[in-house]
Amino acid sequence: MSYLHKLHASSFGPDFQWGVAIAAQQNEGAHLDDGRGLSIWDVFSRRQGKIKGGGKPYEACDFYYRYKDDLMLVKALGFSVFRFSISWSRILPEGVGRVNREGIAFYHRLIDECLLLGLTPYVTLYHWDLPQELQKQGGWTSHQMLKWFTRFVTVCVEEYGDKVKNWIVLNEPMGFTSLGYMMGMHAPGKTGIGNFFPAVHNAALCQAEGGRLIRSTVPKANIGTVFSCSEIIPFTRREEDLLAAKRADALLNRLFIEPAMGRGYPHEENFPLLDKLHLHNKAWKYTERMTFNFDFIGIQNYFPLTVKYNALIPYLHASDVKAKVRKVPHTDMGWEINADSFYRIIKRFWLYGGVKEIMITEGGAAFKDQLVNGVVDDAKRTDYFQQYLSAMLRAKKEGINIKGYFAWTLTDNFEWSEGYTARFGLVHVDFKTQLRTIKNSGYWFRDFLRGS
Ligand code: BGC
Repeated sequence: MSYLHKLHASSFGPDFQWGVAIAAQQNEGAHLDDGRGLSIWDVFSRRQGKIKGGGKPYEACDFYYRYKDDLMLVKALGFSVFRFSISWSRILPEGVGRVNREGIAFYHRLIDECLLLGLTPYVTLYHWDLPQELQKQGGWTSHQMLKWFTRFVTVCVEEYGDKVKNWIVLNEPMGFTSLGYMMGMHAPGKTGIGNFFPAVHNAALCQAEGGRLIRSTVPKANIGTVFSCSEIIPFTRREEDLLAAKRADALLNRLFIEPAMGRGYPHEENFPLLDKLHLHNKAWKYTERMTFNFDFIGIQNYFPLTVKYNALIPYLHASDVKAKVRKVPHTDMGWEINADSFYRIIKRFWLYGGVKEIMITEGGAAFKDQLVNGVVDDAKRTDYFQQYLSAMLRAKKEGINIKGYFAWTLTDNFEWSEGYTARFGLVHVDFKTQLRTIKNSGYWFRDFLRGS
């Protein structure tokens, strides 16, 4: 299909929510200021070779001190929603126990500033930055996780619940459990099934319990949680590739939404690992506790995957055939650009049935941006947004209840294991001076939202 026709924000309807999203660890910096405790990312980033270019999230884009300026940018670009996360270590430096009033005060200032500017806050409770003190006791693998998380969520909702109505419980549990507790590529750098299984289960429990805690504390709350998703395309029509694709799909797309919907962990023929996960966690006992009736689900789709059988990959016996190898368009992360696939994955999540509302809680792309004479001409990013927003409009016009789109992200920031080498922002950041420059894609978004 062609995306060349001119897009209008008004086509999405007057109530459609346009926002930008950021995350505490990626933006705030000020990692030791005003009583903040260390997070797993502060510690993990010290390990040799874990972060590209050796980047540390200690300063990031200094959002802790520059939030007012950054919110002015959000406003100037014409967005009406600001999604951010709360740093658990800033408000509970030891993870549980003592509350750090200065940390609490920061989020009050941030929320108040959003409200003053007419920006609706969407608050993510957990965006991957566990307090290191809790990691010392096992982190997400510990059976105490639910208790710790309850404490954290309770502090947040009691403190901010009268001002904030939109809450997101977890950001991409598949992301932090697989990369952090199975592959060792993200903090805390743990590997193996022995870590992965309990981490998944504790996350699935916290996901639902978080929803219940918000519901019982915040009147009129709008409660969601966020799933990563990727359309899985078999490399060939050969039986072994088709089965490999089914396994990858169960793991990457179904593992967290199905328990939330009351279906328990997914079962897939030819994928005994999932049954082991079920058995290991005695999951049949927890079906109800893993269930929560979310008001909306956030979906985040950064790429589809083309998958083939690969005997060398433990358990999954599948691997992806990279976009570069297939010579299809891709971002600087090597992620395939495929807006039709975005359309299909939205549709697929909608067709689960029982999902009331979909929000695209993140969407964006990293490219090699160059600041030349005060201009960042990132035409590829603009093109990316045009294609993806058109695909979303197509899904919406077919009757899928999509209520909002949040661009990832406002400013270039600390991109996890990519450090400062991958730039996703609508606003360029010079990390030496913290100077912000709106990229051309940011201006495009502003004009699009204005309808000009
Ligand atoms: C995460 C973001 C991250 C983005 C790009 C998402 O999965 O929520 O924190 O920066 O992907 O990698």
